[in-house]
Amino acid sequence: MTRRAVLAGSGALAIGGGLAAVLGAGGRTPVGASTTAGRRVLKTGTTSAPLVGEASQIPVWGYNGSVPGPALRLGQGEAFEVLLENALEEKTTIHWHGVRVPNAMDGVPHLTQPPVEPGERFRYAFTPEDAGTFWYHPHQRSFEQVGRGLYGPLIIEEADPPQVDRDLVWMLDDWRLNDQGQISGGFGSRHDAMMAGRIGNTITINGKPAAPLIARPNERIRLRLVNAANARIFGLDFGELDPMVVALDGQPVEPHRLSAPLLLGPAMRADLIVDFDYPAGTRHSLRDVFYDGLEYELTTFECQGKEVRERRLSDPAPLPPNPLAEPELATAERHRIIFGGGMMGMMGRTASGSDARNEQRTGSGMMMGRMGGSGMMSGGMMGWTVNGVSASGHVHDPIISAVRGTTLLLDMTNETAWWHPIHLHGHSFRVLSRNGQPTRYQEWQDTVLMAPEERVEIAFVADNPGDWMFHCHILEHQAAGMMATIRVN
Ligand code: C2O
Ligand code: CU
Repeated sequence: MTRRAVLAGSGALAIGGGLAAVLGAGGRTPVGASTTAGRRVLKTGTTSAPLVGEASQIPVWGYNGSVPGPALRLGQGEAFEVLLENALEEKTTIHWHGVRVPNAMDGVPHLTQPPVEPGERFRYAFTPEDAGTFWYHPHQRSFEQVGRGLYGPLIIEEADPPQVDRDLVWMLDDWRLNDQGQISGGFGSRHDAMMAGRIGNTITINGKPAAPLIARPNERIRLRLVNAANARIFGLDFGELDPMVVALDGQPVEPHRLSAPLLLGPAMRADLIVDFDYPAGTRHSLRDVFYDGLEYELTTFECQGKEVRERRLSDPAPLPPNPLAEPELATAERHRIIFGGGMMGMMGRTASGSDARNEQRTGSGMMMGRMGGSGMMSGGMMGWTVNGVSASGHVHDPIISAVRGTTLLLDMTNETAWWHPIHLHGHSFRVLSRNGQPTRYQEWQDTVLMAPEERVEIAFVADNPGDWMFHCHILEHQAAGMMATIRVN
């Protein structure tokens, strides 16, 4: 049974030694070129997945015929190479979310590479500097390609990983299924784009309905959570289980217990150490409590069988730090960033934040009703903005152009009535403050979730040269303009 809740092991592509030699920088290879044995291939295409149960096979898009795609595991500092083969009927790319790759490997169509045409291939090669929990997904029409199932986990292992009995990856997702039980169309609809994004009605863990996680007493599990949903925010309440958070967005954080539900916006990750110091026969519920009135039990944790050890292991030590340059705040270059737009923005933010939060949470047409069905959606004049600009395509004039090595301090304000997970490519940043209050852990993230009206300061050393995307990871918001470019010279 646990197998259903577990990605590591079955279906996972084990990566270890025996890597194919790195064949220089990546790039396109002609169709028909033979693939070297042992070289990893990720092939996009149509397939099916048991989204609502073992007996269901629902048409989806996947890598190598599965959702999620193969779990890629490799060692920190180990050369990595993947050949993307595109068997979709549309262009695609792969973005290695959160990995500090060279710009040409970042997978942003037109900005860092030409999109990969149907039937074409593209070779990605890089050596990850950071250990941690990352993921991969297309950056071409991602609101539909990711929404139909193109994503997979990328796990970079520490040289000396913490002692655990099992290391599991859970890719959380939601799907919008219609009455026939098929994925409904309407990807990128204006309604979704201007509100909460495409929220689904069917939740999966690793492409299947959640099954209980069954552990033995005093077992220690490292649980790597990845939110692969287009738009859904998870607020995970572990109740008594009280796990230890050891990493956020792949980057080590001072180990700590949760004092509130764990908020995971789209694209965000958390590494937890869960100790099952409970007797056999006990059961704990994991609830998702983010959306008011729509709280539900995501899954359960159950203790069964003979104890693994006499008593639980002592609290985990911090993970070894990654080689990230420390921001120099004294000399930082400060930039104001304003996120704007969306339904409530258009209305001059007349409603309170909590009204809009409720709207975002329910995804209902409540606001529309309140505005008297004014036809706002049909005007074609709305978008999301970064510093007043609603961007289209992937190539933009940079909003910031930094000399390599400069510390950038972004003082960001969400002037909308909606939540936004804001993602920067090519770097991880420290989250310094929220609404003027220093954060407790000064955590490193690559995606920071901003509440309506919230002000967040982040800082990082702009040390990775290139043009980098900076966008909301609610994929419909991104497509509707909430994106920009930061240039590092
Ligand atoms: Cu996970 Cu720009 O993306
Ligand atoms: Cu957004």
